[in-house]
Amino acid sequence: MNQIFRTKPLSHVMSDSEGGERLKRVLGPWSLTALGVGAIIGTGIFVLVGQAARDITGPSLMLSFVVAGAACIFAALCYAEFASMAPVAGSAYTYAYLTLGELMAWIIGWDLILEYAVASCTVAHGWSKYLGKLLAMMSLAVPGEVHEAPFSIHPNTGEVMRGHVEKLKGENKSDLKTPKLDASGNKMLDSSGKELQVFVLKKDIAGAEVISHTYLDLPALLISLAITLILVKGIKESAWFNGLMVAIKVSVVLLVIGVGAFYVDPKNWNNFAPFGLGGMSFFGVWTWGELRPNGLPRGMLAGAAMIFFAYLGFDAVSTNAEEAKNPKRDLPIGIIGSLLVCTVLYIAVAGVLTGMVPYDQIDKDAPIADAFARLDLPWFTALIIVGAVTGITSVLLVMMLGQARIFLAMARDGLMPKALTHVHPTFKTPIWATLLTGLLVSLGGSLLPLDILADLTSIGTLFAFVVVCAAVLVLRITQPDAPRAFKAPLGMVTPILGILLCLLLMFSLSWENWARLIIWLLVGLCFYFSYGVWHSKLRTRNTP
Ligand code: ALA
Repeated sequence: MNQIFRTKPLSHVMSDSEGGERLKRVLGPWSLTALGVGAIIGTGIFVLVGQAARDITGPSLMLSFVVAGAACIFAALCYAEFASMAPVAGSAYTYAYLTLGELMAWIIGWDLILEYAVASCTVAHGWSKYLGKLLAMMSLAVPGEVHEAPFSIHPNTGEVMRGHVEKLKGENKSDLKTPKLDASGNKMLDSSGKELQVFVLKKDIAGAEVISHTYLDLPALLISLAITLILVKGIKESAWFNGLMVAIKVSVVLLVIGVGAFYVDPKNWNNFAPFGLGGMSFFGVWTWGELRPNGLPRGMLAGAAMIFFAYLGFDAVSTNAEEAKNPKRDLPIGIIGSLLVCTVLYIAVAGVLTGMVPYDQIDKDAPIADAFARLDLPWFTALIIVGAVTGITSVLLVMMLGQARIFLAMARDGLMPKALTHVHPTFKTPIWATLLTGLLVSLGGSLLPLDILADLTSIGTLFAFVVVCAAVLVLRITQPDAPRAFKAPLGMVTPILGILLCLLLMFSLSWENWARLIIWLLVGLCFYFSYGVWHSKLRTRNTP
């Protein structure tokens, strides 16, 4: 009992990071800010905004970005305070170990797998979709059988089913068969009446449904493996590669804003919040906001919970604390700087998108590229697609980098197998932790039902933010005099507002997500009580 609530002293955290196998300190403030921006701008702004604007918020998407950005800023200030106090690998996991005890640290470490590894699976899949668009521009295509995960969520019943459902325009249907749903509406039958176990259901431009067999998302698998190799090779190479990709995607986003501004028609903003400003559901018992056909509320606040995914990643900077040259000064700069840059860019993109296209005509799959395709600007559209592919690649790089560092920190504390602490003698990277991350992401990204996973990522991350803000509060009370190179402003107000805003967004996600989060955490507890609790270094240190 004592052990699971015992906290790790700050002095242990710092001395642990002095001895043993160390990572190289090579990252300065620019590289850290670029890592943050690299992790943030990706699937969220290039893909998710389409569905959010069209079905959930209308032009009030701009406000959704303000609300979600505010929740992140308060959480980011707390992350920055912690990162300046304990600049070692591990992020929220380490902060929880310092303040709330081993059990809570394990829960957060396990929860962070949702944020980093599971988000990477979603992002790898998004990358594969944009690659498909890039190839289509060159009249090439990835065969349908190896461009989709074999499982997905049935659009009507919400059940997990084998196969994949997607709406595609103008697909070449020559090799696809016409499917039929059986009487229950849950089984898919081929033209001879045989049940299809593995299929793709697509709607062509005329609305007809067409199907094909599907086995795995091969591009998602390949990109995850390629990123793993880069990460194994070295953090310096990773940061350089990331810097290049960040430069490309930020230029594309700035061009979208700069060029798009000329095509904005302010009349499109007249119906500013067509679904209202609400969007909360307290486990389905109490709701605030109009309801979508699937029973979930919509409105500006629901949109904020949805596009929260677009902000994920700023905290990834803190997982690289051990590789920062001057972590106490540069980590707060990297975390807050990257978040502020992205908040401004996001609000501007939301304004341009909803100003260029009437909200109910915004494309769901590639909203920004489509807005320019409507203007008959094919080169510009191509540029946006290239920007999206590069942008999403760098998100994957930083997210996978972060996951490997979390495994490393947990293994150093004995909560995960020791092999994960091994740093490669030549590359100076945590080789087994990186390979494990690569394995999980390549399998998950190519095989799992990703519709569920994106929301699961958001609720898991919001939970981590709540705990980090709470941990800052606890540490302010229990260790008021510990040196803090950076102190979040406004006293206790910042962490409290961080907790409240993140909870608000958590309650704007469906109760199914709460249930999935709880199941995930329970599975984690089984691991902890069967391995971590027995191998914990804190236990060895404290038991003579
Ligand atoms: N923020 C990251 C993205 O939008 C996860 O892809």
